This record gives sequence, structure tokens and C-alpha cells, in this order.
Amino acid sequence: MESTDSNKHVKPETLDDLIKVLHNIFESDNINVEEVQTIMEAYDSNPKEWKKFAKPDQFRYTRNLVDEGNGKFNIMVLCWGEGHGSSIHDHTNSHCFMKMLQGKLKETRFDWPKEKTKGEMVQKSEKVLDENKCVYINDSIGLHRVENPSHTECSVSLHIYSPPFESCQTFDQRTGHKNSVKMTFWSKYGERTAFETKVSQENN
Ligand SMILES: [Fe+2]
Repeated sequence: MESTDSNKHVKPETLDDLIKVLHNIFESDNINVEEVQTIMEAYDSNPKEWKKFAKPDQFRYTRNLVDEGNGKFNIMVLCWGEGHGSSIHDHTNSHCFMKMLQGKLKETRFDWPKEKTKGEMVQKSEKVLDENKCVYINDSIGLHRVENPSHTECSVSLHIYSPPFESCQTFDQRTGHKNSVKMTFWSKYGERTAFETKVSQENN
């Protein structure tokens, strides 16, 4: 099915509905970013629908796979404990949509570091996302860091990456130095994945 503007008026009543609409949209290789963002925001977060995917960890945020989008995209639930945050990272040439399901997240955007000049990375913007809001980023827009600004409450967010990717680059804010990191899932389809001790769970 073609991705058309008609989808802009779709209001997914449930998370399952949302996933179905997304399957249709991402069949096409030309993604209308605004359309996806509008549909993501139109879904009113209902914890009963996503609770089984939201598996928190005491020490850092978790990535929990919900659906593999027929190979076209990954949709996942991220759980952020009090004060948990990501590194500054890129998105491996993919589309990245991030919608708030519960609580708030602070998104700080940065320019890519210049190859020649080392030093503090340049911060472009800072935004606190409220429940149900959806933001979009890709590598041409820049880099970002995401964190739960609350010291008393957890946050939960819903992410779409298209095409799916398994590694990204993280950046040191003070020097701009980058590192490649492999990302792992804390759970898949509501089931805790086999414990991995050596691979650090990173980002996006
Ligand atoms: Fe990200």
C-alpha cells in the first residue's frame, strides 16, 4: 500500500492498531515523516497495551523489541529509570521516531563534530517531551542525547527505526570523539532475552 496523506487523519485506537498502520506505511520506501509523526501522536498512550513490553532495569534504560515491522522497521519500548540517559549518538542513516508513552524525556540535539577541530560539541537545542508527543531525527538533522530528567519517576517511550539497525556511533561531548557500539534488546515480544554480559546495551 502506498503511503498517502490520507493516513494523516487516521487515529489508531490501540497500540495494535498503530502497529498495523505503520506496517502499511513502511511498505513504501518513501516515508512521509510528518505523516508518521502525526499518527504516532494520534495514538493515546494506554499502559495496559504496552505494559508487557516495559521491562525496567535499576541501572540503565532498557530497549524492548515490540515488532520487527516485516524487516522494514523496528518498533520498541524504552524504559528510563530516574535520571537514566543515553550517550550522544547518531542513527546509522535511519529514520528515528520517538513518542512519549509515560512521563517526560529531555532531548538535547548536537551538531556533528567537525573532523579537524577537536573540542566541546555544539549544542543546538533542548526540549522536554510530554506524554504522547513524538519527535523525529535522522543523521542529516544531527545527533542527540535523551534523558529522563525526573529523579522520582520513570519514563517510557515508543521508538521506530527504519530501516532497522544494530549498531550506532556514540560521541564524547567534551572532545567529539566517536565510538561504534552494538545495541542489544533487554526483551523481545515481552520476554526477557538471554543475558549478555560482554555487550553493553547502548543507545538510541
Ligand atoms: Fe536516538
